[in-house]
Amino acid sequence: MKIDVAFRAADVTQELVQGRIAVVIDVLRATTMIASLLSAGAREVWPVKEVEEARRLAARLDGALLAGERGGLPPPGFDMGNSPRDIDPARVAGAPVVITTTNGTAAIERAAGADALVTAAFVNAGAVARSLLESGARQLIIICAGTRGAFSLDDALCAGHLIARLQKAHAGVELTDSALAARLLYEGQRDDLLSALLECAHGKVLQSLGLREDIELALSVDSIDLIPVRTWRDGRGVLQAAAPEAGLATAP
Ligand code: MLT
Repeated sequence: MKIDVAFRAADVTQELVQGRIAVVIDVLRATTMIASLLSAGAREVWPVKEVEEARRLAARLDGALLAGERGGLPPPGFDMGNSPRDIDPARVAGAPVVITTTNGTAAIERAAGADALVTAAFVNAGAVARSLLESGARQLIIICAGTRGAFSLDDALCAGHLIARLQKAHAGVELTDSALAARLLYEGQRDDLLSALLECAHGKVLQSLGLREDIELALSVDSIDLIPVRTWRDGRGVLQAAAPEAGLATAP
């Protein structure tokens, strides 16, 4: 298995993702939220780049709920923000959820040309690692969403965590220098991930909004045992829950 890492979604090109499995990470908070929504029973999650586009799509989908953020807070009229604590399982169960976030859903869109796409966060890292191993994935590109075009420490640490787990479980893992850098970064901080997430730029923004608990929740490693896998519907990428043992539909 060859693993590469893009530290910023802005670096993602069609050439980079083509022929590869893309793992998109936005720990604070988009991919943590997506895993949480599916774990709460959402039928599927539709990642969308813009707020207006999300509203239009939700209006077309029967029973759809709107989730997401701008500036860390839910846009007007949304059913919930981008916090797993906003999820009401009674409302979410069986419903399609349309989500739009500043960086995470844009990163998913940039990776659309990948042969297969899954989203990952600390909360479902073990499930993602297992599914990649089950699939016999050979070419992996881990995409860190970053923050407004810049490197984001939370995503890089999660990429390193995932790589460390894959390397532990599988002898034939080859890393590019960026993948090695992510793993070394994670290994240097693994015993105190919370301090890093509290000190990083987006962690500070969330704390200033009174959302520190979301940072702690995002570090509940392996609390969710499913993988959000992209399928296609009417030309749009939709994320659906799959069991890690089911692997991925395509394994380039
Ligand atoms: C994003 O996509 O930028 C984030 O997930 C932001 C957030 O939830 O605060």
